[in-house]
Amino acid sequence: KQSTVIAPSILSADFARLGEEVDHVLAAGADWVHFDVMDNHYVPNLTIGPLVCEALRKHGVAAPIDVHLMVKPVDRLVPDFAKAGATLISFHPEASDHVDRTLQLIKASGCQAGLVFNPATPLGHLDYVLDKLDLVLIMSVNPGFGGQSFIPTALEKLRRAREIIDRSGRPIRLEVDGGVKPDNIAEIAGAGADTFVAGSAIFGQKDYRAVVKAMKDAAAA
Ligand code: DX5
Ligand code: ZN
Repeated sequence: KQSTVIAPSILSADFARLGEEVDHVLAAGADWVHFDVMDNHYVPNLTIGPLVCEALRKHGVAAPIDVHLMVKPVDRLVPDFAKAGATLISFHPEASDHVDRTLQLIKASGCQAGLVFNPATPLGHLDYVLDKLDLVLIMSVNPGFGGQSFIPTALEKLRRAREIIDRSGRPIRLEVDGGVKPDNIAEIAGAGADTFVAGSAIFGQKDYRAVVKAMKDAAAA
């Protein structure tokens, strides 16, 4: 298991002051920026695209940008996000006709690649594409909105994914997304996650430093 990463989802940030919000949460100890891309097609919501990613880089954000694509089709956006400064690009296998090809495209564009598993999606894809993955993302809510409750069956799926990753011997991060909070992160870390997305739990508080620290401490305990 790798070092703990806290990746605030900017979906819950104040978009009118996005640059400041990202600076503030990174200065508060967050490690990555989790960037939720929704297309009103694969998921019933519409958010942000490569322009906003590029704007954050131009603003001076140096931290890894963890792009979570909830879009269909996927491939056309990969080079755009690579050019816009994405560090990691993750997508849902249901949204790509050719999962292996999309992974190859992400790697060829110079980004790290992640595959995302919805609450009812089995982990079978991992049998064949583990060698191309830098990250496995387990959804603990159905994708589309911030502020939903953690679905407990994600814990068992995290344990299974942890075993598969450990058996592979590859340095693949195990990320969890949805309903992660200071009061459940210890149990989630215990199930094997090392990378934690949190939107409402962080941006819903005034003191970002306190909540990021509380999450790191609880995840390490
Ligand atoms: C859901 C997004 C999440 C979401 C997390 O579709 O992928 O990243 O913003 O928000 P919280 O932490 O509020 O559940
Ligand atoms: Zn996300």
